[in-house]
Amino acid sequence: MTGSSVTGLIGYPVSHSRSPIIHRYWAEKYTIDTSYKLFTTAPNRLRQTIFHMRKKHWLGLNVTIPHKQEVSEYLDGLDEIATRIGAVNTITNRNGKLIGTNTDGYGFIENLKQGLGDLTPYLRKVVLLGAGGATRAAIVALHDAGAKEIILTNRTENTAQVMARHFGIKSVPWEAKEEVLKEVTLLVNTTSLGMEGKPDLQLDINSLPSGAAVHDIVYAPLETPLLKSAKSKGLKTVDGLGMLLYQAQQAFELWHGIKPEVTEKLRRITLETPV
Ligand code: ATR
Repeated sequence: MTGSSVTGLIGYPVSHSRSPIIHRYWAEKYTIDTSYKLFTTAPNRLRQTIFHMRKKHWLGLNVTIPHKQEVSEYLDGLDEIATRIGAVNTITNRNGKLIGTNTDGYGFIENLKQGLGDLTPYLRKVVLLGAGGATRAAIVALHDAGAKEIILTNRTENTAQVMARHFGIKSVPWEAKEEVLKEVTLLVNTTSLGMEGKPDLQLDINSLPSGAAVHDIVYAPLETPLLKSAKSKGLKTVDGLGMLLYQAQQAFELWHGIKPEVTEKLRRITLETPV
């Protein structure tokens, strides 16, 4: 293609996104003539923004809250992973056809692999806190990685029950979450609890086995109270920044055909660059 290509992010809001830092860093590193723009798109403008994207020769877009489900209405199709997760976080423009995919599951599992190495011992019994969009991506990725048992628990019990039924897994009431921790090999927080400006997660993790790992998809702060308490008990922990970086890695590769490196330097730049 001639001239600069366009990629970016649509959501509402998007101004606090760190994705431009990541994608622009890689574009410069691999000398790719492209831009990554933020498109603040209110729900009633979604159709028009996607239409606009068809007219121009855009490589694709990332999609964030609140459009991850609705956007599929305006696309030409979804690939298998987006269909299974039930949400789109990345659109690719394949010769004028807009195809929705989802790189959050890859981001989730790749981050865990980087943090824990071989995941086999951690996939025997997994408890997921939460039942939002990120949880759906985590369930599909954990399933594909060979998780033996996945248990959901969520403040709104019905949401967890519906999601658990859909994916053929178990759910337990939020009030009973501490009771299931005894033989858990991996505990994952997929709620927004512990994020800056949100309440902390109130959870006693004393009954987790000593070989268990704890992962929090929250990355601001990098060390959430949950991870702090897990570390103080000598448990392995994985922070949430890698999920953001690896979902971006797969999107970048889909658009530009180069698998960019996730490095310590990029982690630092992503965290330290003001937005
Ligand atoms: P995302 O799609 O990014 O995962 P979301 O759909 O808003 O975001 O999900 C947020 C998750 O955090 C949900 O599981 C939500 O629980 P509810 O389904 O009960 O809303 C959970 N969450 C948010 N605030 C919470 C709180 N104060 N206590 C417990 N869970 C909370």
